[in-house]
Amino acid sequence: MSETSTAVWTRKDLIALEDLSRDEIELILDTAPQFLAVSKRESGIKKVPLLQGRLVVNWFFEPSTRTRTSFELAAKRLTADTLTISASTSSTVKGETLHDTLANIEAMHSDIVVIRHSQAGAAYILAKRHRSQIVNAGDGAHEHPTQGLLDAYTIRDHIRKTRHDPNADLDGVRVAIIGDIAHSRVARSDIWGLTKLGASVVVCGPSTLLPPHINRMGVDVTTNLREAIHDAEVIYVLRIQLERQQRCLFPSIREYIRLFRVDKESLQAAPKHALIMHPGPINRDLEITADVADGARSVILEQVTNGVAIRMAVMHLLVNSRRNELPGAERSLLS
Ligand code: CP
Repeated sequence: MSETSTAVWTRKDLIALEDLSRDEIELILDTAPQFLAVSKRESGIKKVPLLQGRLVVNWFFEPSTRTRTSFELAAKRLTADTLTISASTSSTVKGETLHDTLANIEAMHSDIVVIRHSQAGAAYILAKRHRSQIVNAGDGAHEHPTQGLLDAYTIRDHIRKTRHDPNADLDGVRVAIIGDIAHSRVARSDIWGLTKLGASVVVCGPSTLLPPHINRMGVDVTTNLREAIHDAEVIYVLRIQLERQQRCLFPSIREYIRLFRVDKESLQAAPKHALIMHPGPINRDLEITADVADGARSVILEQVTNGVAIRMAVMHLLVNSRRNELPGAERSLLS
């Protein structure tokens, strides 16, 4: 299955990249290309029957375009049955607890439950109590592990192509993450994932959007955009999450644009070949200009394409977790 990784998947759930070893991350990245090939089939069916008869439930408490559709498509391409539950139309609005709702979903024999929730820890708490295999699709400002994986995959793919080395890894690759670090689960998953893979990460934004002690995650920190990007092979622009800010954390939009927007002018400080990435959704012309987001260096839509393959890989590995082959006592330790 995997061409280069020798790791074996033993986990019940995928909650956070902080939990994973480099080997486990590489196992997922190395499993993805076969699924990318399935999605890119020009003739024939874009499906493989690896999850046939399984039930994948998408349970989203926050808006999502990319992640929800990507998980749904990934499950369908693996031939699973899918159910989508949105918070506004489920009985949680009548006061039902997350545990009660999941117990009812499990009574219908769910296998994988993909959850996005505004509270950090929601996926972890459900994974501990329930037998379904839980995939965290974003929990508050904590983590968004499949985004971190698809970002690492996209960067590694480009490094391999530009270096003409099919085995190149991320050791020493410089990645600058720009913007609203404080509210960003994407930043946290990217930092955990990329640093475990050997990349060197610098985070940059207004001081009010840089969490205290972020340097303890093993990253460099600066409030100077040009300093952050001058040696970056990847410039990863984050969305300004105005909806998560209790109060405006920078003086004005105009001030943010002047100091932190990634545009043609600020990019003059960066290497010509630097990749431009963004998790979406984009606030066009706020954190990044439209010409840069749509320009030749941008791999933003490649991130989306790779996301389906990564999510197929994750669900395939979860369902085939080796924990299912272990005796009961050992299995409970691995969950
Ligand atoms: N990147 C991302 O999580 O996008 P959505 O909010 O549209 O899922």
